[in-house]
Amino acid sequence: MTADAEFDDRLLATEPNSTRHLEVPVAMHVFPNADRPTTTAGTDASVARLEATGLNAYFGKQHAVKDVTLTLDPRSVTAIIGPSGCGKSTLLRCLNRMHETVPGARTSGSVALDGEQLYGDGTSAIAVRRHVGMVFQRPTPFPTMSIRDNVAAGLRTQGSVPSRAHIDDIVEDALRRAALWQEVKDRLRTGAVALSGGQQQRLCIARALATKPRVLLLDEPTASLDPSSTQKIEELVYELRSTVTVGIVTHNMQQAARVSDRTAFMLDGALIEAASTNTLFTAPSDPRTEAYITGRFG
Ligand SMILES: Nc1ncnc2c1ncn2[C@@H]1O[C@H](COP(=O)(O)OP(=O)(O)O)[C@@H](O)[C@H]1O
Ligand SMILES: [Mg+2]
Repeated sequence: MTADAEFDDRLLATEPNSTRHLEVPVAMHVFPNADRPTTTAGTDASVARLEATGLNAYFGKQHAVKDVTLTLDPRSVTAIIGPSGCGKSTLLRCLNRMHETVPGARTSGSVALDGEQLYGDGTSAIAVRRHVGMVFQRPTPFPTMSIRDNVAAGLRTQGSVPSRAHIDDIVEDALRRAALWQEVKDRLRTGAVALSGGQQQRLCIARALATKPRVLLLDEPTASLDPSSTQKIEELVYELRSTVTVGIVTHNMQQAARVSDRTAFMLDGALIEAASTNTLFTAPSDPRTEAYITGRFG
């Protein structure tokens, strides 16, 4: 396999078959920066709106996402919750055109990023994935690459490769945004595998941020992490929404409540309702949502 093929595989990695993980209750905590004015320093301040309309996804004959209409608003985190197998990952993977990489998979309906059709004629899936980045359940650093090269890896999918000095700036900016810079700045040339699981996941977030995506999608990013690493990622997600539009899949409802502004509830491929997180958890409009959030199934 060529290095590039391996690289593409890794960027398109599918999550391992997920078994429902133990939900570790993390004490509600106050986000240290919640009251601080948002800053857009060092970023291409993104205020992107991602709109899926009448979106369907299939694996062969199986209809995994059914007529979903959902908007990820700018400057906010949208959580997608629902029982295992309800189509959360598939929906997310339609939003950056990764679903189509599965043999026999197809989609219908539309997804627009600030009004631009992601499935339009002539739109490249590679370009879409640069604007709509994705992070998976298990950290997927390139094991043979240094920390710096891991972060810079995504830049290779761009047409022109920046100069070495420019790459250093991009790497530092991405690591700062991923709240990892202080921990790794003195060992950028060392291997990424020496990092802890939580650090590796923040490294993957930095890698996704390096191409300055307008939207960042996270598919159960803390499912393999311990409570303290989970808390770091949650704080990071909460902060990132000032500079990038965020969609996060979780089947931990407390996590959705902690990090998101809006929450969407899915069941059996369909979107049951989407509302402000507070409303969805305190006054859901659909009895199925209420049954789920009160733990009656799922
Ligand atoms: N690669 C695949 N091939 C065939 N079916 C799949 C594939 N991935 C997921 N599915 C099916 O699609 C449905 C939705 O799965 P998924 O989106 O992974 O759910 P969730 O992320 O909510 O657990 C499930 O029935 C699952 O079995
Ligand atoms: Mg999933």
